[in-house]
Amino acid sequence: MSEHTPRWWDHAVGYEAYIRSFADGNDDGVGDFIGMLDKLDHLAWLGIDILWITPFYTSPMRDWGYDVADYTAVDPTYGTIHDFDAVVAKAHDLGIRVLIDIVPNHTSDQHRWFQEALADPTSPYRDYYIWVDPPEDGSLPNNWVGYFGGKTWTVDEASGQYYLHLFLPSQPDLNWRNPAVLDEFDNILRFWLDRGVDGFRIDVAQAMVKDAELRSNPQIGPSDDSMFRWEQWNAFDHQHDILQPESVDIFKRWNAIAAEYDALLLGETYDLHMLDKLDRLVSGGDAIDVGFWFGAMHMEWDAQQIRATFELPLNNISAGLGWAQNSHDEHRSVTRFGGGDLGRRRALSLSVLLLGLPGLPFLYQGEELGLESGTLPAEAKLDPVGGDDPNSGRDGTRTPVPWSDADGMGFTSAGVTPWLPFGGRTAADTAEVQRADPASPLHAHRELLAVRKTLSEIVDAPFEWIDTDVDSLVAFRRGNIAFVANVSSAAALAPVAGAVLYRSGAGEALELAADEAMIIRIEG
Ligand code: GLC
Repeated sequence: MSEHTPRWWDHAVGYEAYIRSFADGNDDGVGDFIGMLDKLDHLAWLGIDILWITPFYTSPMRDWGYDVADYTAVDPTYGTIHDFDAVVAKAHDLGIRVLIDIVPNHTSDQHRWFQEALADPTSPYRDYYIWVDPPEDGSLPNNWVGYFGGKTWTVDEASGQYYLHLFLPSQPDLNWRNPAVLDEFDNILRFWLDRGVDGFRIDVAQAMVKDAELRSNPQIGPSDDSMFRWEQWNAFDHQHDILQPESVDIFKRWNAIAAEYDALLLGETYDLHMLDKLDRLVSGGDAIDVGFWFGAMHMEWDAQQIRATFELPLNNISAGLGWAQNSHDEHRSVTRFGGGDLGRRRALSLSVLLLGLPGLPFLYQGEELGLESGTLPAEAKLDPVGGDDPNSGRDGTRTPVPWSDADGMGFTSAGVTPWLPFGGRTAADTAEVQRADPASPLHAHRELLAVRKTLSEIVDAPFEWIDTDVDSLVAFRRGNIAFVANVSSAAALAPVAGAVLYRSGAGEALELAADEAMIIRIEG
């Protein structure tokens, strides 16, 4: 790896707080800034360096805040701008930097810009969005499918024109080819940077700019609206809707602003196929600083798949990778990897590996507690995505954090109904019970972060696979530090000798128990 300019996030560990479900400070059953303020000590104790807070802006909440109606105002559900300031100030006191989620691909249809655009097609705001006259043959303007599945065009009855939305019809896409939109967002970024944030997690960063002619994508497989959303998505070669070369110019412009404040641009770069295009967004160091790689959310607990999932971006993206196995958008990894103690062992082992890879790792709230996805009754489903099955959408990963075994689970007060059910949590899932138990997932994660913190030498050490005859071992080194996971139910011997700095399970010496991972300082 070439020499790079040291940045404050080089050896950091991030943590995603989904604000609605993090902690409720005013007893309305919805998480908020006052509640969050109270839990920052937990994050500092855990060893987190960066806190990413999901959208808290004024919103009609069709997509739970990812439909922004005012980018510079706090939704009253979450508190006031002063509550926000208090969280940022306390986080900074604790040595934690704060990233906020910016949602530039689309606004809410309730945003003033869209309302003006609808009310008057000649208004300058009309061109803030993407409009197309209906084709004469009655077809849609093109064949693009949405990230949530289904069509991406909705008619504005008043004008007869279609507008584009890669998500819900109530989330119209902005027109990033209009310079006025760029100017608006420069001001929005500065507004929050001036209030002290340390950077942004950029929602849907890969898709902001669209093909100038809105050409259809080549279809490479069957697709219809009844199919699972990712199947619909993968039926097309996304040449024209995402990862357009002009995106780089936007992020260069943002990077210049961020640089004035030494701020971090973290992109939600959700693409698992077009790695060369993704590379352009991150690798120059002058656009997006870190782009998430989501492969670890879409793989089985299988050594070959894990290796391939790491190798793909490591071979194609030269710098600036972000890693996560959980988020507010996917089922929790403990559930995906088999559930219960088995899933917990595997998820922790995967964390050991992710924390060893080049790049910036993120935990998602509750991951440190080894939580499975919450389970919900059909009538509790609130995610607009996922059809009728309550557990096929994203609610299961978004259930409130169980802080204690009290009525309200320390998330809210006794007698208050949380916005989403707790989803079947037990006392053993709670932060309070786990904090008192040195053998808990919480302590295992805390120790892992503490050990990793002592290994800043890995930042400049190249990534190298370690050869092993054992197919079920995933092993790599960064300089003298080895990260090894046993992806199997049989014990296996580590392929290197040295001092064991961390182990996730119950093996002994250099033997890895089933699904155990270790960090080893190689000797000899
Ligand atoms: C991102 C968010 C997701 C949201 C979508 C639309 O993928 O992570 O939660 O629904 O963007 O804004």
